[in-house]
Amino acid sequence: MNRNYHLDFLRVTEAAAMNSARWVGKGDRDGADQAACDGMRKTLNELEMSGTIVIGEGERDEAPMLYIGEKVGTGKGPGIQIAVDPLEGTNLCANGTPNAISVLAAAVEGEGKLMHAPDCYMDKLVVGQECRGIVDITLPPRVNVRLMAKALGKDVDELIIGVLDRERHENLIREIREAGARVHLVSDGDLSVAIAALNPDSDVDGLMGIGGAPEGVITAAAVLCCHGEMQAKLVMNDAQRARAEKMVEGDLDRVFHTTDLAAGAVMFAATGITSGDLLKGVRYRRGFALTDSIIMRSQTGTIRRIETTHQA
Ligand code: FBP
Repeated sequence: MNRNYHLDFLRVTEAAAMNSARWVGKGDRDGADQAACDGMRKTLNELEMSGTIVIGEGERDEAPMLYIGEKVGTGKGPGIQIAVDPLEGTNLCANGTPNAISVLAAAVEGEGKLMHAPDCYMDKLVVGQECRGIVDITLPPRVNVRLMAKALGKDVDELIIGVLDRERHENLIREIREAGARVHLVSDGDLSVAIAALNPDSDVDGLMGIGGAPEGVITAAAVLCCHGEMQAKLVMNDAQRARAEKMVEGDLDRVFHTTDLAAGAVMFAATGITSGDLLKGVRYRRGFALTDSIIMRSQTGTIRRIETTHQA
């Protein structure tokens, strides 16, 4: 992927974050989401590319914009597949709580690829580079935490695993705790926590548990760029399975590894909306706004943290 594209894509997540930041804490999920989508779509359409949304706000008939298959960009440049989540953590933004971000992943057609994931759940295991090659999602979580602690040179009780705070994770949380590790429970936004887990300087060592599959694919793009590891299994009801059969090649019940989800030359960009594990939120000062973003490219493994000052 052309090294300059990633700055263009950074402007896209910045625009979405700044639009939705006006809705932080207003209790209006739809308003915040709409604002993020408007900002993202407008900026995407300014880019010299023939972009296609491969992961977006839903199917054409259920999403007014940034739906799967929607063409974005000027239509003049290279073909680019784009997976977007204009507002990851809709509740977090509406409630003014940490970890709402705007995020996307992109791949130039023929150079990289992103899985066209169905809108179902995904069981995820995400670890950073030091734990790559040692965890296995088919093993019990208590075994994985021990393996992780060993690889990180930590005691098990020094480990922190991010988990979405959901009833479905009751057993998972109990098992992690019984193994001696600590749990970082989040109300929403497993994507931010997964990305934080890729950073050895963050408080979180890994992510476990079931969240959205579309978020999982975007996560995988970052995992690829950071040389971490992701393993995942689709979790589907019958209707989702029927749809997934049309979208995903091969055995739907297999373990998907990082490169099944995101492979080749991909980039990842995220901008904070509310401050959290990964990024600071949008902050307003007299006459300008500050954004905090991260952008990564898989070709070089470059990770840039960018704070931008936007004049009002
Ligand atoms: P939204 O921004 O679409 O609300 O997603 C937030 C999120 O918490 C994701 O981070 C996570 O993958 C998914 O929802 C979990 O879904 P559910 O809330 O149904 O458990």
